[in-house]
Amino acid sequence: MKPVCVQGLGFVGSAMAVAIASSTDKSGNPIYHVTGVDQDSHTGVERVNKLNRGEFPFPSTDSTLSEALQRAHQIGNLRATTDPSAYESAEVVVVDVALDIDFGSEEPRFETFALEKAIRSIAQRVAEGALILVETTVPPGTCEKILLPVLSEELKQRGLARDAVHLAHSFERVMPGSQYLESISRFWRVYSGATTEAADRCEEFLSTVVDVREFPLKRLSSITASETAKVMENTYRAVNIAFIDEWTKYAETVGIDLFEIIDAIRVRPTHSNIRFPGIGVGGYCLTKDPAFTPAAARQLFKSEELKFPFSELAMQVNQAMPEHVLNRLNGALGDDLRGKSILLMGVSYRQDIGDTRFSPVEILAQDLLQSGANIIAFDPFLNHWSEMALELPTVIPSPNDFDAVVIATSHRQFIEMDWISWLGTSKPLILDTVNVLSKTHRTECRSLGIQVESIGRGDGL
Ligand SMILES: NC(=O)c1ccc[n+]([C@@H]2O[C@H](COP(=O)([O-])OP(=O)(O)OC[C@H]3O[C@@H](n4cnc5c(N)ncnc54)[C@H](O)[C@@H]3O)[C@@H](O)[C@H]2O)c1
Repeated sequence: MKPVCVQGLGFVGSAMAVAIASSTDKSGNPIYHVTGVDQDSHTGVERVNKLNRGEFPFPSTDSTLSEALQRAHQIGNLRATTDPSAYESAEVVVVDVALDIDFGSEEPRFETFALEKAIRSIAQRVAEGALILVETTVPPGTCEKILLPVLSEELKQRGLARDAVHLAHSFERVMPGSQYLESISRFWRVYSGATTEAADRCEEFLSTVVDVREFPLKRLSSITASETAKVMENTYRAVNIAFIDEWTKYAETVGIDLFEIIDAIRVRPTHSNIRFPGIGVGGYCLTKDPAFTPAAARQLFKSEELKFPFSELAMQVNQAMPEHVLNRLNGALGDDLRGKSILLMGVSYRQDIGDTRFSPVEILAQDLLQSGANIIAFDPFLNHWSEMALELPTVIPSPNDFDAVVIATSHRQFIEMDWISWLGTSKPLILDTVNVLSKTHRTECRSLGIQVESIGRGDGL
């Protein structure tokens, strides 16, 4: 089996490690022996230990992913470590560490120190001829202007030529959730290499991990183009979501149902991906990626002239969406949230996964606390909400104890649950921010005397 390392065992790297370990040849034999490498930190060690026990480090409903991990664990072709000497024997090292951006200043700035350190630790050890495949979402220009010089410097220190190791970029489109593993192995990929040879090596490798017959790879002509494709597609989505915000408020004000309107518009193939109203944008990607290109223009391409008004406005609008939910709730509860008890149903930013990073529910929770409300949160995928330092109950609390229930994540459990039985005789206000309740649910609840409101619909719709 060919040795491959995955650097960074987060939401992306852990799943990518499983995907690579699941690659088989025509006879069904595994092609790779995968070593996942993380830092010797509390989080890193925890993720390494879990993978070594055959447990996926994050709660997920994707049974294909856990079965694939179990198989790799039994075969023994996936292990994890904090020891970077694993890079020495790797033919391919896939880089899945994170790169953050600091929103503290008026013009957000990114800092590449941690990514440079990660690349150095590979470059200091990796064998001649190996491929380093960067999957991290980076500001365009990072590979060419920052990582390639770092790589060359380290190779020179070792007496190796700058092209002794190949650098390629292919961003991840992984979607943690019910199709977690397939979103890697059965999904389209874009890639490029610092040289044609690097691009060829990348293509060869990805062709063994991704089902390229059904999902062909797309090679771009430069590594900066590949980096740009990732941040541009995420910015497009962030703008699309932000666009809906003004229509959400319009629909609520004039008393119409924006969901039925969007359903009607979506039948046009040209408009099929128009977004729906919601609580806001969360997660590690859509909250930061739209800031990468404006920052890269300033920091890497030294351009003060380039402006990105749509991208920047989209981020501001998306950040403010939870405040609109707060205002709706406040209005429905008599313009005073002090002392009110609110149950938040779902804290994860995304359906069917326990990921609370930059969740819009956190902004809402903070706003509620500041308004004097008491909150209890429930999420079927989490028993601890680290950002809020809150322990979460393991079963949905009784509705008797609450003035309002805010449905904040569209987990399948909430879509499928029997709301009428759960509500019993209690009558809390229900505010559905993510379109979990069907028309039938809403009508049934109202027939019991319960006030049900939705983000994106006028009062009582
Ligand atoms: N989460 C998603 O849904 C998603 C989807 C597509 C792309 N991405 C992108 O993928 C990248 C990774 O995202 P993530 O969500 O997995 O991040 P994460 O923070 O969950 O994981 C990153 C991991 O890298 C480890 N790490 C950092 N420096 C290291 C080093 N020097 N050596 C070894 N390990 C190191 C960290 O300890 C951490 O475990 C980001 O660029 C992100 O934007 C994420």
